Amino acid sequence: MELAHATIERLVEAARRAQKNAYAPYSKFSVGAAVLCDDGQVFLGCNVENSSFGLTVCAERNAVAAAVVAGARPVAVAVVAPEAATAPCGACRQVLAEFSAAMPVILATPDGDGRQLEKLEALIPGVFRFPNT
Ligand code: THU
Repeated sequence: MELAHATIERLVEAARRAQKNAYAPYSKFSVGAAVLCDDGQVFLGCNVENSSFGLTVCAERNAVAAAVVAGARPVAVAVVAPEAATAPCGACRQVLAEFSAAMPVILATPDGDGRQLEKLEALIPGVFRFPNT
């Protein structure tokens, strides 16, 4: 899937908005994510940390959940992390790949024009698939 420049910018802008709402009092590492869906809708997610650290949910998975609740299916994702382009964690790669291994992954920072473009399947070779699906 090829994304138009304007679509990339729209997704990065959305992920930056989501990042502003991150709840990250422990790590202070605020992440925002925006997923583009097959019907053109965009859904946002931010990381939501917890005193019980293991209950923290990443920005990407919250964005996927928001899309699915609305009946939409993710086809691309943008992630904004502090300071440097940061690829999704392994758990989020698996969850994103549920919807499309060919999904473009855009990595950006809160400011600036730098965009790193990855293909999800390159980030998670050998992704788990439930047998016969
Ligand atoms: N985090 C994300 O939101 N997405 C990732 O893909 C990696 C990590 C969050 C979880 C935690 O709140 C903080 O970043 C530091 O790990």
